[in-house]
Amino acid sequence: MMNVMRHLRVPNKSVQDVIVLLKDNDLLNNGMRICPDSDGKHRLIPLSESAPHNLPEHFSEFEEVIHEGKIDERSNDSWWKHLSEIIGEDTITEYGESWPSNHEFIGDIMIVRINEEISSYREQIAISKMASHPKVRMVMEDRGVQGELRIRDLSPIALRQDSEIITGDISEEMCDTRVLVRESGKSILCDPRRAYFSTKLQTERLETLSLAKELRSMLDRPLRVCDPFCGVGPALATLLGETDLVGRILASDLNPDAIELLLDNLRRWDRRDYPTGAKKISRLYEDRIVGVADATKLHEDPSITGAWDLLLVNLPHRTVELLPTLVPLLDRTGTSMIRGRVIVAESEIEDVNDAIRKALPPRLQGTPEPTLKIKRDYSSTLRLCAFEAWIGPAS
Ligand SMILES: C[S@@+](CC[C@H](N)C(=O)[O-])C[C@H]1O[C@@H](n2cnc3c(N)ncnc32)[C@H](O)[C@@H]1O
Repeated sequence: MMNVMRHLRVPNKSVQDVIVLLKDNDLLNNGMRICPDSDGKHRLIPLSESAPHNLPEHFSEFEEVIHEGKIDERSNDSWWKHLSEIIGEDTITEYGESWPSNHEFIGDIMIVRINEEISSYREQIAISKMASHPKVRMVMEDRGVQGELRIRDLSPIALRQDSEIITGDISEEMCDTRVLVRESGKSILCDPRRAYFSTKLQTERLETLSLAKELRSMLDRPLRVCDPFCGVGPALATLLGETDLVGRILASDLNPDAIELLLDNLRRWDRRDYPTGAKKISRLYEDRIVGVADATKLHEDPSITGAWDLLLVNLPHRTVELLPTLVPLLDRTGTSMIRGRVIVAESEIEDVNDAIRKALPPRLQGTPEPTLKIKRDYSSTLRLCAFEAWIGPAS
């Protein structure tokens, strides 16, 4: 699986100094490898997922590049060592590729997918992973995203309490899944058992940031951003990190728990007061419309419709079907943009490209047709894709 991520391109002679500096600033991605650049004169140093998009001044002389990340097998090695001590080399060999070499961190929670055939070893897997990652508080099994609210079915396998690792009966009260995640210099409060959140979308969010900057320079004013499937608000966190990029925001979601967490996030990002509980969508400030709402109904409100420059559509299994109800939200008196994610069978990408083009108003002259780009595998046949559409003013 491709895992593109941010790297700092540093001349070979400065690599050691820069590593020390990055470590001091908590900006180094420890689980990934430092790779040689194709010119042989530079190395690509992987940046931590929480690194702010404007790096501190002392790194400004180095170019930042998006490049495929390579897992540092040395740090990965240690969990295999622990596993082999518990279950033996023969069992590891017997199940070959089935063992989970990947995992995701959400704060101090490690999330692991476990194949059916090795599910009886889930506790040994969790204990080994925890032994090689001493900062992990809890390992949870990811049984996939479910239902319309796209919440992950997560079940705790092991929990660290003081210096002990507990497995087996882990009660609800013991496993607090509310965590603060650092990304692009902002803290994002999330709770993966109550609302959708994925750290794997960070590159996606940075791409949206760079498109938003292009749109901002075209319109020559801060953007009005509409995020009607906002979850806990990670896309907005990245955009709000850029000075004068964002003016008005509409942030809504069908999931009240996501809105409750979003309000907490907005309170910190905006440094203003926000209500504590989730409420139906309403204008909380002149430039902030926030709350629980069905995105497909937003266009029925005349105070919301026709008012946005940048529309984020992040409900990938329904994006194409929902586009007709979302397009009216755009302000068609000027240039606007839709940025969307779509899950599609690889064999159907061309048909879906056609469907997207048919569902959207004419594109801005001189910009490319909206086209799905594959981001990663979703299953053996399905791909997770993204597109951007530059929309021209209505004539
Ligand atoms: C894939 S998640 C994306 C969340 C967020 N944008 C992010 O990047 O983390 C999709 C979100 O859409 C919300 N959702 C699903 N159907 C919806 C609808 N009809 N109207 C508004 N939100 C909806 C879910 O609750 C979920 O939070």
